[in-house]
Amino acid sequence: MSKQFDVVVIGGGPGGYIAAIRAAQLGFNVACIDEWKNAKGGPALGGTCTNIGCIPSKALLQSSEHYEHAGHAFADHGIKIEGLGLDVAKMLARKDNVVKQNNDGIVYLFKKNKVAFFHGRGSFVKASDAGYEIKVSGEAEETITGKQIIVATGSNARALPGTPFDEENILSNDGALRIGAVPKKLALIGSGVIGLEMGSVWRRLGAEVTVLEALPTFLGAVDEQIAKEALKAFTKQKLKIELGVKVGEIKSGKKGVSIAYTDAKGGAQSLEVDKLIVSIGRVPNTIGLGAEAVDLKLDERGAIVVDEECRTSLPNVWAIGDVVRGPMLAHKAEEEGVAVAERIAGQHGHVNFNTIPWVIYTSPEIAWVGQTEQQLKASGRAYKAGTFPFLANGRARALGDTTGMVKFLADAATDEILGVHMVGPMVSELISEAVVAMEFKASAEDIARICHAHPSLSEATKEAALAVDKRTLNF
Ligand code: FAD
Ligand code: NAI
Repeated sequence: MSKQFDVVVIGGGPGGYIAAIRAAQLGFNVACIDEWKNAKGGPALGGTCTNIGCIPSKALLQSSEHYEHAGHAFADHGIKIEGLGLDVAKMLARKDNVVKQNNDGIVYLFKKNKVAFFHGRGSFVKASDAGYEIKVSGEAEETITGKQIIVATGSNARALPGTPFDEENILSNDGALRIGAVPKKLALIGSGVIGLEMGSVWRRLGAEVTVLEALPTFLGAVDEQIAKEALKAFTKQKLKIELGVKVGEIKSGKKGVSIAYTDAKGGAQSLEVDKLIVSIGRVPNTIGLGAEAVDLKLDERGAIVVDEECRTSLPNVWAIGDVVRGPMLAHKAEEEGVAVAERIAGQHGHVNFNTIPWVIYTSPEIAWVGQTEQQLKASGRAYKAGTFPFLANGRARALGDTTGMVKFLADAATDEILGVHMVGPMVSELISEAVVAMEFKASAEDIARICHAHPSLSEATKEAALAVDKRTLNF
């Protein structure tokens, strides 16, 4: 007889492994199946996020930022460096080690929480009286049964039609994180989150970087004022961003890649580079899941169809994270994982989509939560805005990084915070205060009246909240 579980989670990324842990905490007998392999063929839990996403990209962003500071910023602090050098192999090895620490951490967490781990691909076989039979195809093959199934199979990089990734010259986010030597010239297609983060890494390390973006607007989902400020900063750093382009033929050969494109004015252009990173979004992943075997409904994008509580078209089958609708973010996947485990336990798990923060880990960092000014205008909501520049913040001056601002948007009548937008140093950390405030339905005045440590970057948050009422103290 096959092994029986209360809950079987397919996929061990941030959605899946967190769902498995929460379900185990709630007293269920839980299995998690994940197929990711490390370089030695062993398991590598954590999914895209840990292996080729959030974690390794942040490791390289940190290393490359240190290098840039050592080369350019330290002199201002009176620190002289001679013979500054770069060891890309060591930088990549450090990144791989950070990834491994995270992989191993999840193995430990599974043991601690008594989650049974199966290394291999999980696919639906059929519904049975005991729930659903799931075949695990790994080194060995076996079938396990779950009363409840949580699908968390994530997403894959989208390739340009007719231009598959070879991970040598034409790179997805995977290859982009392991380029062995700094390319002289690098192009990225797509100036979204990956384009800006990976473009920043390789620019800081010395590559001449061009980003080609189809849309005429830079970071269309970001508050316009913030996006404008960010674009100004990136341009100053010589990260070349061309908007409104139409990419044509791409040829890859021994000497590198040539990209034909039409610029915003309709002019024919071509770009010769050593490497090309394609970062034009991601597609939900249901490859090999056997969705058809049980008639699990997918939409036209290939995402698993779910309701607002992550219920699929099948009873007792749930789906979470990148494989369903909504933003493709690790913390969104995690929140859905916790909520689904709690719903299975008869509790009232909840994910508030209005307060999911976004962060782009460039320099300056960009972070936001809630509605943008353009969204508020489009919806006709009466609002008040307040901004405060880091230029007027003592801690930012001491750090030597005064780029950017904090911006609050609050309801004109009630003063409830509707959105907070930031561009500047360490705003990835500052945004949490805004998320907490919005979860508690705080007003801008609530933040303005709270004591913030001095000197700290968080004072810019307080001052921007004061600015909503036109009473900044330091600007
Ligand atoms: P995934 O992390 O994709 O995990 C899915 C897992 O399921 C994988 O391990 C896969 O091997 C496994 N799997 C798939 N099918 C099967 C099957 N049939 N059987 C067994 N196993 C299977 N988000 C952020 O919030 N912050 C960031 O800073 C950030 N940076 C990113 C940087 C990059 C370069 C990329 C590409 C993404 C980044 N993201 C970031 C997005 C984030 O990685 C994803 O939103 C997140 O990983 C989604 O989690 P998930 O659990 O849904 O899927
Ligand atoms: P993205 O959706 O952020 O950006 C894709 C960009 O490519 C868009 O600006 C789009 O207009 C452009 N584009 C699409 N087709 C194009 C074409 N043919 N030619 C030129 N431009 C084109 O997608 P990206 O950067 O690939 O990242 C995928 C997802 O991964 C993100 O949306 C995000 O959810 C997640 N991610 C999150 C990070 C974070 O939270 N810090 C970091 C990296 C990724």
